[in-house]
Amino acid sequence: MARVYNFSAGPAVLPEEVLKEAAAEMLDYKGSGQSVMEMSHRSKVYDNIIKEAEADLRDLLDIPDNYKVLFLQGGASQFFAEVPMNLMKNKKAAYIITGQWAKKAYQEAKIYGDAIAVASSEDKTYSYIPDCSDLDIPEDADYVYICENNTIYGTKYKKLPDTKGHILVSDVSSCFLSEPMDVTKYGVVYGGVQKNIGPAGVVIAIIREDLITDDVLPGTPTMLKWKTQADADSLYNTPPCYNIYICGKVFKWIKKMGGLSAMKEHNEKKAKILYDFLDESKLFNGTVVKEDRSLMNVPFVTGDKELDTKFVEEATKAGFVNLKGHRTVGGMRASIYNAMPIEGVEKLVEFMKKFEKENTK
Ligand SMILES: Cc1ncc(COP(=O)(O)O)c(C=O)c1O
Repeated sequence: MARVYNFSAGPAVLPEEVLKEAAAEMLDYKGSGQSVMEMSHRSKVYDNIIKEAEADLRDLLDIPDNYKVLFLQGGASQFFAEVPMNLMKNKKAAYIITGQWAKKAYQEAKIYGDAIAVASSEDKTYSYIPDCSDLDIPEDADYVYICENNTIYGTKYKKLPDTKGHILVSDVSSCFLSEPMDVTKYGVVYGGVQKNIGPAGVVIAIIREDLITDDVLPGTPTMLKWKTQADADSLYNTPPCYNIYICGKVFKWIKKMGGLSAMKEHNEKKAKILYDFLDESKLFNGTVVKEDRSLMNVPFVTGDKELDTKFVEEATKAGFVNLKGHRTVGGMRASIYNAMPIEGVEKLVEFMKKFEKENTK
């Protein structure tokens, strides 16, 4: 059966090469006579898998030694709670609300302390990134929180906020490893892997060592205390072993493709093809201000709901799947993560051109 072009926002397309390799190793991983799904997480062979995955990620992002890498569970949504539990010493934090995921993190933090929205783009359906050059951040705020790439709305910070010396915490779920990133600018960087890195079920967190302490909010469950996980090298309990193994394969694939600078180039090329077409199209329009456009998630509309539905239906039949936009934006959204080949975007644009011809007078 032919594979489709999958524009899902997540879980999302993975490199075909990785899937084939995993298939070949399914019954017998490197002569162990077992699938990675079946082996003990305490075995030597699995220890090599998780250690190599971490080493490759450190290499890709050039992660300094004073940052820990944790492979966690619970999705990015559970991490929304882990951030205040582990960091809210003064019970105060500043949140920048650039979409639903940032808002959910902010609402979660409110359970634990005084979460303050210091900027928001909710007034225009989150179609832009607010000016973050001079925010009113309380002196005693424990951290500043952002969602760096807004999966639903298709915006991305091109410049990080001026946190005025406060720790920056960033959710990079939908832009993880899509381009180089200077880890030293952050206290905590984290993301669910189900978009650019692997199968749902793993959150990768990169945390500056001094932020990992026993001084957490009272009542923090053992499992959600970063120190528990850091002290055990992410093996405090049984981790999502197979999923981490796939993440490791994706890290190797990115390295083979030339690393994060090459990924950025590849992603810019793809995004340009789609945005250039949206800018000249008489039928389709992008929904985001140009300067804040994401390289990963591209929402667009025709302005006519029935026509949007027709487009999604016809696209699906033609092998371009998961293009329906989020209900809060409507229309369509093409997520073009690392593993989406250029050819997928070229063919989508060809299809859009044909649809435009057939549906404009
Ligand atoms: C930017 C961002 N943050 C958080 C989440 C929530 O992730 P999870 O479903 O792993 O809790 C998503 C999910 O799509 C997301 O795109």
